[in-house]
Amino acid sequence: MVAPQRASETCATCHESNGAVPFTTRSLAQHTILHGPDPHNAISVIVKGIDPPEGAPGGVMPAYGSLLTDAQLADLLAYLRRRYTNEQPWPDPAGAIRDARNQPEIRSAVMR
Ligand code: HEC
Repeated sequence: MVAPQRASETCATCHESNGAVPFTTRSLAQHTILHGPDPHNAISVIVKGIDPPEGAPGGVMPAYGSLLTDAQLADLLAYLRRRYTNEQPWPDPAGAIRDARNQPEIRSAVMR
C-alpha cells in the first residue's frame, strides 16, 4: 500500500460500494468520524479494524495498523479528510498518530 489514492481504493471496495457490501454506509463521506475535530477515532478504526464478537451482527473491516507506516497513515488521513469532507485539514495528524501508536490497545494491533 503506497499512495493514499491507492490505499483508499482498497477502502473503496467496501466503502464506496453503494451499499452492495452489507453493514457499511454508502460512502466514507457519511462517516461522522472523518468530520470530527481531531483524527483520533479515525486513526483508531483504521489501525485496529472492526472485528465484531463471534455471532454478533456487524461488518468486518481489516486492521491496517501493520500495513501502513505512520507517514502513509498521515497521508491517508489527510486524503480522506480532503476527499470526503469540507472541513479544514486536521491540525496535527502526525502527533495524533504518535499518540495513538503509544496506546496499548492500538500498539497491540500493530505488528511491525
Ligand atoms: C472488507 C471491507 C472493508 C474495507 C476494505 C475497509 N473497511 Fe472501513 N469499515 C468496514 C465496515 C464493515 C465498517 C463498520 C460499519 C460502518 O461503520 O460502516 C467500517 C467502518 C469504517 C469507518 C467508520 C467507523 C465509524 O464508526 O464511523 C471508517 C472511518 C473506515 N471504516 C475507514 C476505512 C478506511 C480508511 C479503509 C481503507 C484503509 C477501510 N475503512 C477499509 C469495512 C471495510
